[in-house]
Amino acid sequence: MLCSHMKIRVRPKTAESTRNTCESTLYLFFMFATPFILYLCICSLSMSSSWASSASKADAETLRRKRINTSKLYLHVIPSKVPIIYSSYYDISFLGIEKLHPFDSSKWGRVCRFLISEGHLQKNSIVEPQEASRDDLLVVHTEAYLNSLKSSMNVAMIAEVPPIAILPNFLVQMKVLSPFRKQVGGTILAAKLAKDRGWAINVGGGFHHCSSGRGGGFCAYADISLCIHFAFVRLNISRVMIIDLDAHQGNGHETDFANDGRVYILDMYNPEIYPFDMEARSYITQKVEIVSGTTTEKYLKELDKALEEARRNFAPELIVYNAGTDILDGDPLGGLKVMPDGVVQRDEKVFRFARERNIPLVMVTSGGYMKSSARVIADSIINLSRKGLIDITSHQRRR
Ligand SMILES: *[C@@H]1O[C@H](CO)[C@@H](O)[C@H](O)[C@H]1NC(C)=O
Ligand SMILES: *[C@@H]1O[C@H](CO)[C@@H](O)[C@H](O)[C@H]1NC(C)=O
Ligand SMILES: *[C@@H]1O[C@H](CO)[C@@H](O)[C@H](O)[C@H]1NC(C)=O
Ligand SMILES: [Zn+2]
Repeated sequence: MLCSHMKIRVRPKTAESTRNTCESTLYLFFMFATPFILYLCICSLSMSSSWASSASKADAETLRRKRINTSKLYLHVIPSKVPIIYSSYYDISFLGIEKLHPFDSSKWGRVCRFLISEGHLQKNSIVEPQEASRDDLLVVHTEAYLNSLKSSMNVAMIAEVPPIAILPNFLVQMKVLSPFRKQVGGTILAAKLAKDRGWAINVGGGFHHCSSGRGGGFCAYADISLCIHFAFVRLNISRVMIIDLDAHQGNGHETDFANDGRVYILDMYNPEIYPFDMEARSYITQKVEIVSGTTTEKYLKELDKALEEARRNFAPELIVYNAGTDILDGDPLGGLKVMPDGVVQRDEKVFRFARERNIPLVMVTSGGYMKSSARVIADSIINLSRKGLIDITSHQRRR
């Protein structure tokens, strides 16, 4: 089904675009394009035959492993870098469109600027990730889903920014989806760094509403699922705990790891807000529902209890911590009343939880796009550093 879709798309599109060009360019076009078109046809033919015969899970798994093995996302990171991952390409800003969204779409850059300008972090010790390629994304996503992002209308619905719908798709790819793919590359790389260094923070990522075949809630790619699949294949890891403390339920990774015994999901969320995904709720290993209006003290008490239970239930080899700041009091979406100091303490508890048993920890920043969120995330990183849970001073070689 996927491939018949592809064929229909590829052929008429090329044919149509040639019709409108003048003769000489037409000639040149055919000179150069014929081999390419042939190549596309052969590819789609061989793909459709291989797909047709490969309904089997084993083949899909082999293909997934092959994609992971040949990916360029696991960069070599020199020791003088600190496992904080960020790129200026993360930030979405484009003709002021970002201002139409209630979100601070450059919070990622602001977190880093706070850390750098206040002397906690050196700019050149930040790790810059690669952008996830189509092959990388296919490790989890379906062809059909990725193709659906070629419609600006679909992206507008996923990103919840209606004006995106009227933009030509190449602009949407360049200005919206490419920054997201860069953040996905960051989350995937974070697991490798965490395994090497004990922890890693991707200053972006945490798109926990997106699953293999469906996006939504500002999440276009399933970075957490991707990160974990890469870790399974490349990092000799077979037991992962997701600790999802964003205010919203993480229905994306829950759907992707439904009934997968290798992944333990602790999700603490407000059941009274988006996404109301009842099916995904049934896949949560440890569900902690906290109602609207929950305050700092109550929240932290619930978290202590939840971590205690998780500790008894499962011994992970990697923790992926989805650290959304939309639990903050005043967040227009989260409905909770946790104070900034509560977020700082929350993060500290999770880092301690990992540190006590020496489990590599990946943190992603996820939801929470109030103007104040960036400050809170930066404060939390500073506190983690002060408490000796992370070390963000750069280790340049000294003599
Ligand atoms: C991927 O690499 C791993 C180890 O590096 C190896 O065991 C596995 O066979 C490879 N899989 C494929 C499909 O290349
Ligand atoms: C993979 O992990 C297991 C424990 O989970 C360990 O015994 C084994 O030595 C590891 N293998 C490699 C190649 O690191
Ligand atoms: C976190 O750090 C900030 C600034 O460095 C400080 O003002 C605050 O008291 C700290 N909070 C906690 C909970 O340690
Ligand atoms: Zn959220």
